[in-house]
Amino acid sequence: MRFDRFMDRALYDPRDGYYERTVEQIGRKGDFYTSVSVGSLFGELLAFIFAARLEEIRAGKARLWLVEAGAHDGRLAADILGWFRLWRPADWSGLDYGIVEPSPARRAIQRRRLGAFAGKVHWFGSLAELKGARPSGVLFSNELLDALPLRRFVWRRAGGAGCWRESGVGLAADDTSFIWSESEVPIEEWEASPWLAVGRERLRELEPVLPTGFVWEHPAGAVGWWAEAANCLSQGWVVALDFGRADGLPALPERGEGSLRAFRGHHQVADVLANPGGQDLTADVDFDLIRRVGEAAGLRTAALCPQGRWFGEWLARVEAAVQRGAFPVWDAVRRRGLLTLVHPEHLGSRFQVLIQERTSCSEP
Ligand SMILES: C[S@@+](CC[C@H](N)C(=O)[O-])C[C@H]1O[C@@H](n2cnc3c(N)ncnc32)[C@H](O)[C@@H]1O
Repeated sequence: MRFDRFMDRALYDPRDGYYERTVEQIGRKGDFYTSVSVGSLFGELLAFIFAARLEEIRAGKARLWLVEAGAHDGRLAADILGWFRLWRPADWSGLDYGIVEPSPARRAIQRRRLGAFAGKVHWFGSLAELKGARPSGVLFSNELLDALPLRRFVWRRAGGAGCWRESGVGLAADDTSFIWSESEVPIEEWEASPWLAVGRERLRELEPVLPTGFVWEHPAGAVGWWAEAANCLSQGWVVALDFGRADGLPALPERGEGSLRAFRGHHQVADVLANPGGQDLTADVDFDLIRRVGEAAGLRTAALCPQGRWFGEWLARVEAAVQRGAFPVWDAVRRRGLLTLVHPEHLGSRFQVLIQERTSCSEP
């Protein structure tokens, strides 16, 4: 099968998929940490920034929405909702919180975690369902795009000529493990997937000098998701926080093997095809391509920068809120948490923030 299908089954198979399991995947007892694991500060900072955005678009609207996708165990939702209830009581009654969650098992986990906010949180099984509600507000995700299936291509050179071949997954001769396979990419494939062609175009100049075996990853799942998300809001921000690159240079020498990786128990696992359903699969998000997808759908890019810089730009306003008693004070734990979120050697530079905006006059 093609690799994107393998990744989809490994992560989301309704019975055996990694994210369908009820064990903890994120945090100390799980396989990896996210910014949410740092503590409630991440959610509180997002809530503060989103509240400012909601304020700007509030005029004439009875209700505004925060909509999270990839809400996982509901922890970030609880941190954001907790902050609004405590620190923005005036905004609380006009606020709705949506969660886009295709998995019934995950929805059940989130419902349990968010019991204290019953009536406030509304679930949508898909972006298509959300679009029906035509909300105004902020649609956001943290570490969702990196977990959506990607297509993987390998540059092969024979004699002077070269071509891209697509990675697939097959069974080893002993039938007990999975191995990589490769197949030709028919010309109609490039024509059928415009964003695949755009992604390749950025590499075309370099093709004559690419070494054989060079890997290029196309974020097919993330592209499809963003294109749909771009058309869900009446007005507001579409926001993605994730690790990845914004430079649009998929061919730096150190990226020759691609960025796909597997994690289990906080260790990187050498064989990404091993143990499907039992380990996380992830890859750097190609934010340059995602930005173009949003712009093609009519969104305006408001920001694309490292997470550390983005939070840094808001810190003076957060500090002013602390001083007037409108944001929790900085104790030692929160100061440490802030350092983890913004320091370039922690999450500050590896993580990017993309904000794209739909203004009321640019409705799809
Ligand atoms: C890496 S986890 C997210 C982590 C969480 N947001 C955090 O910051 O701790 C990715 C989550 O995205 C969910 N997911 C996958 N595909 C999705 C989709 N199409 N819509 C919404 N959520 C999805 C998965 O089930 C999983 O819970």
